[in-house]
Amino acid sequence: MKQVNLGFLGCGNIGGGVYRLLQEMQEELLRRDSIKVSVTRILVKDIDEALQINAAKGLDVPRALLTEHVEDITSDPTISIVCEFMGGEQPAASFMEQALAAGKHVVTANKVALALNWARLQRTAEEQHVGLWYEASVGGVIPIIRVLNVNLESDQIDRVFGIINGTTNYILTRMASEGKDYAEVLADAQRLGLAEPNPATDVEGMDAAYKLSILASLAFHGRVTYDKVYREGITAISAADIAFGKEMGYTLKLLGIAKKQGNTVETRVHPTFLPKDHPLANVDGSLNAIFVHGKYCRDMMLQGRGAGDMPTASAICGDIVEAALSDKVHYPTFDNTDTPAPDFVFTDDWITRAYIRLSAVDAPGVLARVSESFAAEQVSIASMIQKEAEEGARVPMIMITHPAPEQAIRRALARLAEDECTVEQMIRVED
Ligand SMILES: NC(=O)c1ccc[n+]([C@@H]2O[C@H](COP(=O)([O-])OP(=O)(O)OC[C@H]3O[C@@H](n4cnc5c(N)ncnc54)[C@H](OP(=O)(O)O)[C@@H]3O)[C@@H](O)[C@H]2O)c1
Repeated sequence: MKQVNLGFLGCGNIGGGVYRLLQEMQEELLRRDSIKVSVTRILVKDIDEALQINAAKGLDVPRALLTEHVEDITSDPTISIVCEFMGGEQPAASFMEQALAAGKHVVTANKVALALNWARLQRTAEEQHVGLWYEASVGGVIPIIRVLNVNLESDQIDRVFGIINGTTNYILTRMASEGKDYAEVLADAQRLGLAEPNPATDVEGMDAAYKLSILASLAFHGRVTYDKVYREGITAISAADIAFGKEMGYTLKLLGIAKKQGNTVETRVHPTFLPKDHPLANVDGSLNAIFVHGKYCRDMMLQGRGAGDMPTASAICGDIVEAALSDKVHYPTFDNTDTPAPDFVFTDDWITRAYIRLSAVDAPGVLARVSESFAAEQVSIASMIQKEAEEGARVPMIMITHPAPEQAIRRALARLAEDECTVEQMIRVED
């Protein structure tokens, strides 16, 4: 039997879930893997406050385990694995680096700290011959990190895309099913605890962009830094766009999309219309799903709970067991640098179809001039609907283009004469 002592950095939602799961599974882990896993120290901001919060949650953590000093964990020679559940970039990243430098394995669920400090953390881990595990940083319980890092290492992945933020998926699902506006559904999600009081990281797409930078780096075996991910959130999405899209056979999702062709790489997070029978179109609520396409594996999709204390704890405990049992640590095989991979050419001129909503003056010749603007940039229109106008009012004109370069679509929109036609919305469409 091997005794494995853990130190936790933070004990909120996820830390509490992992603590509970380890207690519940302690005897099983002893039987299955001959390891006795014990949490021996937990870093909190304020011990008295933490005891009160834990008591309110029914989490029985002895006072003796709690500390307000990170050194009590990073300098404790009996602790071999440090689990970071604080969230945010700092001080989480520097605490993890401190733990790695002290020769401890680190397990984290923190995509922000990882995406922005990955190279340094991995370098320190490699120098100390210890591991850095982060399965729960993307997709909650979905084992996508292991699949890309280990299972598909011998494949050539050219596409990874999916729904990697549960909060926005919940909001868009409810907007679609209830016909409600963004602000109303967001307020309700906040009331139910499904969106943060400050929801910017989720609804503006940063959370998905951090995750996509991690996935794309692993999939394409080269560093895709966060700043190389194009990003648009869902704050400008209206109930009308979702309804018009539905009328044309589409469902709206916030997707993270990474594609590689030769050395050209595109990484983008934005609202995307998908045909309503697309497998991702039916991944609803707070679920996550990720599609992978590779030369040999072809298509595969993984779906599961992208958040929640116990699903996430399940993925984290998998990392903890692997860290406890590992003799040899597996690091990603690409050159993990702070800067983008030098041989990747990042493009913002990807090929896409687009849903476009214009507000046009109801007058003869306007439609023809709109068509001319698109034709001038060689963007062809696949379908169009024009709504009846109230007397004297502008009319919504909705169109979907054939595949075209992103920048050509933007140039076509810039050609439209503002006095007769304004661009209200542009949403990409994937098939
Ligand atoms: N929630 C999910 O479903 C989910 C899923 C996947 C991954 N994750 C990731 O898991 C991590 C934790 O998320 P969570 O939902 O558990 O967040 P949380 O409930 O806010 O818990 C974080 C805890 O860490 C504490 N903390 C923050 N800074 C600290 C510091 N300097 N010293 C000591 N304690 C500190 C916080 O205390 P205060 O509250 O006093 O600040 C809080 O108790 C994040 O990286 C998140 O992205 C979460």
